[in-house]
Amino acid sequence: MAKRIGILTGGGDCPGLNAAIRAVVKHASISHGIEVVGIHDAFKGLYEGDCIPLPPARVRGLLDRGGTILGSSNRAHPFSYPVVDADGTTSVQDVSDRCVEQYHAMGLEALIVVGGDGTQSIAHQMSAKGLKVVGIPKTIDNDLEATEFTIGYQTAVNIACEAIDRLHSTAESHDRIIICEVMGRYAGWIAMNAGISSGADVILIPEADYDIDRVLESFRRRHLAGISYSIVVVAEGAKPRGGEHSVAVAGDATREARLGGAGHLLAAQITERTSFDVRTTVLGHVQRGGTPSAFDRLLATRFGVKAVELIVAGKFGRVAAFRGGQVVDVPMEQAVAKLKRIKPDGSLVGTARALGVELGF
Ligand code: F6P
Repeated sequence: MAKRIGILTGGGDCPGLNAAIRAVVKHASISHGIEVVGIHDAFKGLYEGDCIPLPPARVRGLLDRGGTILGSSNRAHPFSYPVVDADGTTSVQDVSDRCVEQYHAMGLEALIVVGGDGTQSIAHQMSAKGLKVVGIPKTIDNDLEATEFTIGYQTAVNIACEAIDRLHSTAESHDRIIICEVMGRYAGWIAMNAGISSGADVILIPEADYDIDRVLESFRRRHLAGISYSIVVVAEGAKPRGGEHSVAVAGDATREARLGGAGHLLAAQITERTSFDVRTTVLGHVQRGGTPSAFDRLLATRFGVKAVELIVAGKFGRVAAFRGGQVVDVPMEQAVAKLKRIKPDGSLVGTARALGVELGF
């Protein structure tokens, strides 16, 4: 059985990462006498050999703490890594062999990778290079096909729901259309679930391009019915029919494009064609910060325990997953094969339509 294992957190942070680290350390050391090493800043720490011992005392009080004590990075891809050369210039290099060397130099016999689809894809590639890897799925976007829920997602929905509740009262006071742009990348889970939960009037998701005429018509219907304000939840990945994604920062070989601007684009379209008073709120990283919900603490804890059990059982190249109320494990390649997105003809969309929510398609 393994005597020393490593853990790293990769990609964008989210609430519940520390709860997962805590569960891994407690279960590994208390139940199995396995030493845990924390690797800083995702694969950057693996490349640089930057790690710390994680005895149980180090994880005390972590259950409710947001962020990650290990730090994270969404640019540290071992196969296209931005290496800063001696002359100060940056070149993109494959440093995966160096990462494998560091893994052995740290004396690791297995590695737990806590991450979303990008990080799990890297983990899958590293396992093909001989590393014994086990994955824990996290991301506020909830877009991993392997699992019904990822760590951090429920908390993000709670945060967005509370924010949209607050926008309701001010929209009503001023007879305004208030647009709330939420995160989620190319999946509309946060938008749809926070939107339904907070009683939004219009919800626009990346899975189906919106028809601006339908959106404007829904405002007019409300006005005719004597309701002079509306709440719109727009996912950052939503786009108008015939339009492009709103990109805040273009991607390159070392990172994905950063989305942003869908809310302002929609506001401009409304203002151009109507006299409605429109305001836009971009929730941004507030959705990723702070205390995890009880659900996410529990999910993270169950995933952490499962990851250690997989290692003890010698089941590598697998990802912990939540399916039908049970924590199970699935092959890593299956977990990263495709993104989990909302089905435009599925029951969640049906629920929104049943309530008269305008979806723009
Ligand atoms: O994947 C999580 C996420 O928060 C997305 O919803 C969002 O598009 C992106 O990360 C933001 O990334 P960054 O932390 O680089 O701003």
